[in-house]
Amino acid sequence: MEERVFEEELKKKSAAVEQVIRRFLPEDDGGYAKKIREAMCYSMEAGGKRIRPLLMYESYHLFGGESAIVEPFMAAIEMIHTHSLIHDDLPAIDNDDLRRGKPTVHIVYGEAAALLAGDALLNYAYETALQSFLYIYGREDFQEIGERIAEALRTMSNKTGIRGMLAGQSVDVENEKSGHLSIDRDMLDYIYEYKTSKLIEAPLQIGAILAGADKSDQLCMDDLGKRIGLAFQIQDDILDVTGDERELGKPVRSDERNEKTTYVTLLGIEGARQKVETLTEQAAGLLETIPGDTEFLIHLVKKLAARTK
Ligand code: IPE
Ligand code: IPE
Ligand code: MG
Ligand code: MG
Ligand code: MG
Repeated sequence: MEERVFEEELKKKSAAVEQVIRRFLPEDDGGYAKKIREAMCYSMEAGGKRIRPLLMYESYHLFGGESAIVEPFMAAIEMIHTHSLIHDDLPAIDNDDLRRGKPTVHIVYGEAAALLAGDALLNYAYETALQSFLYIYGREDFQEIGERIAEALRTMSNKTGIRGMLAGQSVDVENEKSGHLSIDRDMLDYIYEYKTSKLIEAPLQIGAILAGADKSDQLCMDDLGKRIGLAFQIQDDILDVTGDERELGKPVRSDERNEKTTYVTLLGIEGARQKVETLTEQAAGLLETIPGDTEFLIHLVKKLAARTK
């Protein structure tokens, strides 16, 4: 696939993903609770790369999925991701004041509203994902597809909760300001695998589950997500040092300010870059073993490794 063709496809697909996300955002019901909805939508509508719903869409179609049941899940995973960012930016966690090119939710709406908006997004994600059942009521394959939806819900909750992203975030904050020497590679890998990879494994696996892919393909998506996620977080660490705040849409040097151990502090920029490259090659190699058209995904994985935002 030529670079130009890939870029065009990426643009088209990203626009479609954006539409899906916006379709599932809550509407103003005219009541008193205006602020919480506004704060939720403020961060959801601020943009972002939308990489997780895009990966879910790609995985679903790769394994032959053709229905709209994936759409509520695409919106839901972006809601969970956005919830994690709102809380990650709070003064008690990373204390950052810029996200997706805009002042963070707690800067605009205050800390209490940011806490509640984060909670609300996490809850609304499940309200949204549950809507996928509405697409299949009365259909003769209700039992079969309903079981897939239930399994997808189980995967989503598991990979984002205390055995997933929240476990990683929890160990990550515990180790803030603890001194670079107290965290070894093993522990750092744990943090990255949980705080970041789990939220990449989830959409890839959910796409496969909803499409009815067999267990070995689901596990392959899991493995793929782990490697993409690790590369993604290491690249994020690199950009925290080398990136441009205006382009990134979030503050640089946040990790240094919080005295975090990262791949950059452990291996240096060059060592970290090497690691991103190795993980990306492994991810692309895995994609090549999957029957079906994975060209777009391979391009996407390489683009993520070279990203500057
Ligand atoms: C930021 O995720 C948090 C990390 C896991 C590094 P993204 O880089 O995907 O953030 P958005 O969604 O594009 O804003
Ligand atoms: C956060 O990692 C990952 C999650 C929010 C789960 P970072 O703290 O490095 O993410 P950024 O740099 O603030 O986006
Ligand atoms: Mg953080
Ligand atoms: Mg942060
Ligand atoms: Mg970061």
